[in-house]
Amino acid sequence: MMAKRIQFSSHGGPEVLEYVDYQPAEPGPQQVRVSNRAIGLNFIDTYYRSGLYPPPALPSGLGAEGAGVVEAVGSEVKRFKVGDRVAYGSGPLGAYSDAHVLPEANLVHLPESISFEQAAGVMLKGLTVQYLLRQTYELKGGETILFHAAAGGVGSLACQWAKALGVKLIGTVSSPEKAAVAKAHGAWETIDYSKENVAQRVLELTDGKKVPVVYDGVGKDTWLTSLDCVAPRGLLVSFGNASGAVEGVNLGILSAKGSLYVTRPTLATYANNAENLQRMADELFGMISSGKLTVDINQRYPLADAAKAQAELSARRTTGSTILLP
Ligand SMILES: NC(=O)c1ccc[n+]([C@@H]2O[C@H](COP(=O)([O-])OP(=O)(O)OC[C@H]3O[C@@H](n4cnc5c(N)ncnc54)[C@H](OP(=O)(O)O)[C@@H]3O)[C@@H](O)[C@H]2O)c1
Repeated sequence: MMAKRIQFSSHGGPEVLEYVDYQPAEPGPQQVRVSNRAIGLNFIDTYYRSGLYPPPALPSGLGAEGAGVVEAVGSEVKRFKVGDRVAYGSGPLGAYSDAHVLPEANLVHLPESISFEQAAGVMLKGLTVQYLLRQTYELKGGETILFHAAAGGVGSLACQWAKALGVKLIGTVSSPEKAAVAKAHGAWETIDYSKENVAQRVLELTDGKKVPVVYDGVGKDTWLTSLDCVAPRGLLVSFGNASGAVEGVNLGILSAKGSLYVTRPTLATYANNAENLQRMADELFGMISSGKLTVDINQRYPLADAAKAQAELSARRTTGSTILLP
């Protein structure tokens, strides 16, 4: 069976991505092969491509999020059979493909009420929001929080989830158009961090109290600003590097700014086995079926145009989720 996939043989910009013929593997004993119907685009894909995160080997497949139909199962697979609708939001790399082989433990059953496109737009990003808002810092309702890049894929889901929890989310954005997107998804207030002084605005919006938790997927550019927005003994959740990795951290700064906590979490640690993954996915799917969370797929590309899709994401020209169609 010949199929197509995106792969890269060296690190660099979107131009290193190649659309090639390949032979999907037969699943091992505990593996499942999924015929992808829709694939999710994520910022992390650009880190593997650029080399910020090293892939296990080159040439490498790319992508960690998708949804489709089971087309083959290994001899020890118990929870899935050929024809099942499934979705996934974690490795191994290779989701940018017609067919992808994954461990059974990385898959969840996809309810009929959720389309392949919705699932591909929400598995990695929505499970991330689940752990960020419900586990890394367990929001109870009533808090005011700061969330960077609030109109993005993860951000626009976070706006909605925070609103559903009764949390006032202050979202940073880089344009008036993105401010409108964040507001439409339930952000309480927005700050244009390309123009405004974020720490000053957060002080004003919180009557000088600052916030108990800041969620920062922007990284390098917002690190110091984020620390300035955390209330004493509060938490900075640094969960991404859209502007580059945070480097050269001086621990003393955490004492100077009020005995702050910092964590650098990753989805893989939270969805670390089939039970935890299923529990998180059940909560996510429940939010979608109850209408509290909508998955906005604002950009769609043929799989062959993955390089173009990545260039748009990196140039900050996307909002909500982007999917690739095999
Ligand atoms: N740790 C985890 O478990 C985990 C899981 C999923 C995602 N993430 C991280 O979460 C973040 C968001 O991921 P996503 O896939 O949903 O992407 P996204 O938010 O849709 O896109 C990234 C956004 O970051 C903002 N940004 C700020 N500075 C930027 C810069 N120099 N270059 C490019 N973008 C910049 C842009 O919004 P503005 O134009 O409004 O600034 C841009 O739209 C990423 O850092 C990603 O790595 C982490």
